[in-house]
Amino acid sequence: MTIQKVGVAGCGIMGSGIAQVAALSGYDVIVREVNKTLLDTGLDKLKISLSKAVDKEKIAQQDMEDALGRIHDTLNLEEFSDCDLVIEAIVEDLDAKKELFASLEDICSGSTIFASNTSSLTISKIAESSDKTGRFVGLHFFNPVIQMPLVEVVKSSETDEDVFDTAYEFAEDLGKKPIACKDETGFVVNRLLVPFLLDAIRSLESGIASITDIDKGMHLGAGHPMGPFTLLDYVGLDTTHHIANIMYEEFGEERFAPPKLLTKLVENEMYGKKSGRGFYEYTGEKPVPVEL
Ligand code: 3HC
Repeated sequence: MTIQKVGVAGCGIMGSGIAQVAALSGYDVIVREVNKTLLDTGLDKLKISLSKAVDKEKIAQQDMEDALGRIHDTLNLEEFSDCDLVIEAIVEDLDAKKELFASLEDICSGSTIFASNTSSLTISKIAESSDKTGRFVGLHFFNPVIQMPLVEVVKSSETDEDVFDTAYEFAEDLGKKPIACKDETGFVVNRLLVPFLLDAIRSLESGIASITDIDKGMHLGAGHPMGPFTLLDYVGLDTTHHIANIMYEEFGEERFAPPKLLTKLVENEMYGKKSGRGFYEYTGEKPVPVEL
């Protein structure tokens, strides 16, 4: 199976990142959003990230221009008709994902690979609405996509062997380091990372240390590039809350249950970096821990 044209459904943080790395690796990319505002915001993010990569001398100016020349954008899903691979990076909602793939089944050829960047749903559930479950695979990227080397490649019990192999090779071709994962909620990384992040919140709730000191502790004492609160704000508190709920529902274990403080911050629309406030406030030059 040869991949030449890649469709990316969704141009949020993850979709725009996936589109960037695919285009930088020479693939023709078409990225789709549901409305012009979301599309323009995503494309702006993509351009800023590529410019940063140029500023940091990770790529040449010409690489950026070539990559941008390979990315086409659309509001119309029909334009995915000649894609060899479609990567879904839309909202983390099972029904929305199923509906998207049901539309794509009518649009794409029978040989198109359908990949999901889901962080907490299973590939087999997403594939439920389809007759061709063998073409579904997981390609779970990490934020920021351009910098994080890992891709979890997820094989459901029904994923065709050649679909999995092609997806794995595609991830390698992007310069990523893939790992093979079983199709279970949270795969490898989120299954371990999410309870850790939730435990950090529980530690804060029980007064073990301040936001800054817990962050400093894990950064300096455990070698994490970001402390848990910086990472929570980076990933998004709403996103983490949503993933935790899905995992709690699936496993029924307390360690996956969203702590009260997380729920309160999300209810107050404190989503982290993207909304300007989470565990830190991002209005000044440096993030400042909020009074909780
Ligand atoms: N291309 C584009 N931008 C680049 C870049 C490159 N090659 N290199 C650096 N940059 C950007 C950085 O993203 C950062 O941007 P920002 O200010 O807008 O955040 C800025 O330049 C400064 O970068 P630094 O050089 O200071 O930072 P580092 O490059 O050393 O590290 C980091 C940044 C890679 C984000 C690092 O802190 C890190 O690894 N953090 C942990 C991230 C993590 O754990 N991600 C996984 C989250 S979980 C997930 O995604 C799963 C999901 O399902 C929830």
